[in-house]
Formats: sequence, structure tokens, C-alpha cells
Amino acid sequence: MRSAIIGLGVVGCVHLQILAAQKRCVAALCDINKEAMSAAAASYCPNTPIYTDWMTMLDEISPDAVHICTPHYLHAEMIITCLDRGIHVLCEKPLCMKPRELSEILAAQERSGAQLAVCQQNRYKPSFRFVKEYLTDKKIRAAHGTLAWSRGEDYYNSAEWRGTTAYEGGGVLINQALHTLDLLRELCGDPEYVVSGKDNLTLRGVIEVEDTLSASFFGKTPFTFFATNTGSMDLPPQIQIVLEDGENVVWMPDTVLAGGVANRFSAEPDRILGKSCYGSEHATLIDDFYTCIQSGRPFPIDGTEAARVMRLIFAAYESGGNKVKI
Ligand SMILES: NC(=O)c1ccc[n+]([C@@H]2O[C@H](COP(=O)([O-])OP(=O)(O)OC[C@H]3O[C@@H](n4cnc5c(N)ncnc54)[C@H](O)[C@@H]3O)[C@@H](O)[C@H]2O)c1
Repeated sequence: MRSAIIGLGVVGCVHLQILAAQKRCVAALCDINKEAMSAAAASYCPNTPIYTDWMTMLDEISPDAVHICTPHYLHAEMIITCLDRGIHVLCEKPLCMKPRELSEILAAQERSGAQLAVCQQNRYKPSFRFVKEYLTDKKIRAAHGTLAWSRGEDYYNSAEWRGTTAYEGGGVLINQALHTLDLLRELCGDPEYVVSGKDNLTLRGVIEVEDTLSASFFGKTPFTFFATNTGSMDLPPQIQIVLEDGENVVWMPDTVLAGGVANRFSAEPDRILGKSCYGSEHATLIDDFYTCIQSGRPFPIDGTEAARVMRLIFAAYESGGNKVKI
């Protein structure tokens, strides 16, 4: 398998480090920032060709798989182009930014013989797998998810796309909180309606998008969700569940309270790459991506699967206090 990475920023370098550690063939790197890309290449794959134009890279290298690690507004076009060329894709979250892009991506996935995988790595967390298994055959009465992180001016000024409607497509929900909302939805099932409100509480004049959002989802299993980037530090995301029999179950990345017991899941420190909030599952997911391609097994988080949380996000953004069908 000859792989290429497009976008060698914060998370693209995590992908590169993992490909190097897993001894996979990095056939090309591409970034419009040649300096940053050259530094990354020098550290992990000094003889690998580098490109500043991704279409030229695809034409000249014809990689078997492409990792898309660019800002949100570029995901749809890059995914569709690669899939239409029969190139397997691992795209960073979010899958896309707009409902129309989602339909186009799903159509491209349908007509392509290549696999589309989306980097929602928290689904691979041992703590999440444990809670999912624990809840099998148990009925959830209600649930709530919370993400309270800290993203201030320095973070938003670190790249031009951050905090903009046109390039990020939203704020805390589509970026930082997507993973926790996805896990909550995985446990509760797909809701039918949402009522949501969002605001920019602390970063007016700095970002165009929301720093805080609250949403109530209605359906067979109702759940609520709160996300904010206005905290003073990154608290562990949390999902609180009450079962029909009154039992409380709580998921956090490294602890699950279930059956009256605190079950601990500590990540191996040397497996955490990039920011600690990314967790250590990028490596597990990337390994599974290549195993799936080589064995022909469908990757579990494909476009159709990633679309499920995207529909919740799009409806929550549309809501503005009104009940919106998902
Ligand atoms: N799964 C996770 O936990 C996780 C964590 C961090 C980021 N992400 C996602 O990864 C993506 C990138 O985030 P980031 O924090 O690394 O951003 P970043 O700004 O640090 O990196 C983006 C890189 O893309 C490059 N780029 C921009 N336009 C390009 C183009 N046309 N061709 C080639 N390269 C181009 C930029 O120069 C930059 O180096 C986003 O979608 C983000 O949401 C996911």
C-alpha cells in the first residue's frame, strides 16, 4: 500500500508519525505550507516526494490510499476526487461541512470501489467499547453528554480557517464536540428531532462561530447535550445515563461507572500522539483502516456511518430554538 497525506498541520503530523511507526510506505506528502511540510518530512520520511498541489500529487504519484488532514471546507472535494479515482480515503473528522456535500460524498462512496473511512477514533476507546457492551440489552431512560474545553484567541488565531463559518462550518459542535456527540448517539440511537441554541459568549469579534451550544434530542431514547469552548481547561468529556431500573452509568474517556464500580481504562502514555485530548486511538484506527483495505472487510466508520452524527450537527445548527426534524 502506497499512502499519501494531504495536510501536514497539527493532526496530519500525528498521521505521519503513526504511518512511520507502523512502517507503512509514505509515497508522498502534500501541503500548501512547504516549510512546515519539509520539516515534517525531514523528521519521518526524508526521501518522500513533497507537493504543494494535491491534484498534481494524485496525478504523479497515484497513491493507493490518501489521508485527508486539511481544514473542514476541503474535505468533500478531496474525498470525492480520490474516491472517483479509486483511491482509498481516510478523512479526518468532520466528514464534511454542509448537507449538500454529505449527499455528494455518499453518492461518490456508492459508485467507488474504494473504501471511505472517517477518523472518529473515540469509537475505538476501550472505555467506550466497555460501556457499549455493558448497555447491551439494557434500556436507557435518558442521557446527557457534556464537553467543556478551553479554546481561546491563541487557538483560533493559530490558523486562518479556525472560527470561520466558511472554512470551519461551525464552532465547538462540529469541531471539538463531534466525537462526544457521536458516542452519545451510538449509545442512545438516532433521534428524530432536535431543539438547539448556540451563542458566542466569550469570543465575540474573534470568531464568527459558536463557542457554546445546548441541544435537546427527541426520539425513542431522548438525550441532551451541552458543549462549550469557554472553560479554563479541557475537562474530560462525560456521558451520563439513567437506565429504566434507575441505575446510573457514567462514561468518561478513562473511567466508566457501571454496576456500582469505577472501571479504569488508562491509555498507554507512549501511544498518545498530538494533544492529549485526541486520545491514543488514532493508531488503532489507522491500523484497522489498512487491515480493512487489505482484507476487503468494510471499515466500520464509513461515510454512511459518519453521516449519522453529521445529520445531528446540521439539524442542531439549523434549529435556532425551533424543533427541527433530523
Ligand atoms: N480526530 C481528531 O481528534 C482530530 C484532532 C485534530 C484535528 N482534527 C481534524 O483534522 C483536520 C485538520 O486539523 P488541524 O488541527 O491539523 O489543522 P491545521 O490547520 O493544523 O492543519 C491543516 C493543514 O492543511 C494544510 N492545507 C490547507 N489547505 C491545503 C490544501 N489546499 N492542500 C494541501 N494542504 C492544505 C495547511 O497548510 C495545514 O498545514 C480538521 O478537519 C480537524 O477537525 C481531528
